[in-house]
Amino acid sequence: MSKKNEAFVTLNPDEMPTSYYNIQADLPEPLPPPLDPSTLKPINPSLLERIFAKELIKQEVSQERYIKIPDEILDAYLRLPRPTPLYRARRLEKYLKTPAHIFFKCENFSPTGSHKTNTAIAQAYYNKKQGIQRLATETGAGQWGTALAFASAMFDLKCRIYMVRTSYQQKPGRRIISQLYGAEMFPSPSDQTNFGRKLLKENPNHAGTLGIAITEAIEDTVTHDDTRYSLGSVLNHVLLHQTVIGLEAKKQFELIDTFPDVVCGCIGGGSNYAGFCFPFMMDRLKGKSDMEFVACESKAVPHTTKGTYTYDHGDTGKMTPLIKMLTIGSEYACPPIHAGGLRYHGMAPAISYLICNNYMRSVAYSQTEIFEAAQTLARAEGLIIAPETAHSLRFVIDEALRCKKANEKKVIAMNYSGHGLLDLSAYEQFLAGKLVDFEPERIVVPTYIP
Ligand SMILES: Cc1ncc(COP(=O)(O)O)c(C=O)c1O
Repeated sequence: MSKKNEAFVTLNPDEMPTSYYNIQADLPEPLPPPLDPSTLKPINPSLLERIFAKELIKQEVSQERYIKIPDEILDAYLRLPRPTPLYRARRLEKYLKTPAHIFFKCENFSPTGSHKTNTAIAQAYYNKKQGIQRLATETGAGQWGTALAFASAMFDLKCRIYMVRTSYQQKPGRRIISQLYGAEMFPSPSDQTNFGRKLLKENPNHAGTLGIAITEAIEDTVTHDDTRYSLGSVLNHVLLHQTVIGLEAKKQFELIDTFPDVVCGCIGGGSNYAGFCFPFMMDRLKGKSDMEFVACESKAVPHTTKGTYTYDHGDTGKMTPLIKMLTIGSEYACPPIHAGGLRYHGMAPAISYLICNNYMRSVAYSQTEIFEAAQTLARAEGLIIAPETAHSLRFVIDEALRCKKANEKKVIAMNYSGHGLLDLSAYEQFLAGKLVDFEPERIVVPTYIP
């Protein structure tokens, strides 16, 4: 006897989106342009061609609402597999005794365990098509590194990854996976670049940061003709590629005749949450919906709750253009929280704009709070969530409990950006009561624009 699966809302392969959604077409005003640090004038996009594949630069500044996804990318998405299911977390609802309905969009099913493959595949494809042979990038705890290593293997590209030294040493899981895919991995600061060598000379045991690893990957790129740089978050084209998540989710909610009241997700550089929420935000921007948008970050890296909306560099070595974003300063030494993917000083310009213009709000949580939420989920649903994603889960649980008190039947939708099966040492520390919570005492954001 067949039974209808009410836990998962699925789409057929032929229902997968065939275009990305570009929110730049619908914002009330253009995003402030990136500036050349030497002139403080808008940067000429062609100057970026030595760093990024041409098609990605085109996408970065495009104002077209929809950008067609090439067949080769669609084929690679089908094999992740996409479309990913939308899951109704009924056991969590029951556990919390809430009248709220909780939905997760399952990006944790990809081979490397997170949403990062959606843009890694697109970036590898466009670089390959341009004849580039090698990609360079950075990674923190390794989610982005594994995704780019995977996509490089699929598109037959060489891949060089600068991995923040503390993660390289303490969290070998994703390093090993990336090496298995064929990527070259170096702990950052490394002896492979001038910037890395300079820092190692000052401190041979330098722990590294994402901002430093970005500088190293860019230096590597500009010193190797066959190489282009690839970034896993923050930039418009990365957010664009992630919109397959929200475009699918929108169709899935339509299929079950349900519409979320609140759409939430965690934010490091902003890509998974942007990808999930922008297709819903389109309706809000056009005045067709009053949906609530909540971005969830770490109290240790409070770029949107305590940051400044200003022009800042994307890296520590100041090699990137100046970007207008919510930032806590590119020299901020992000504390060693377990949610490595949330340890970045700046926020994507589009998300920054939406927060500063009150289309979206943001909230911040400590490590202990988010691991408690993760433990609740493990007990209620058996799911082991990524520490990054657990920041939005904390919001989901708090909101569901508030709904219980108020007897409110709200529909809460969360992007389940990744699983935590390679984060078990963090869970071990949580269970042993050894987690330390961090909050900056002082935030200094340099001013680059007089
Ligand atoms: C599972 C997971 N979620 C979220 C993030 C945060 O990145 P972003 O804000 O770009 O989605 C990361 C980053 O590595 C991640 O691995």
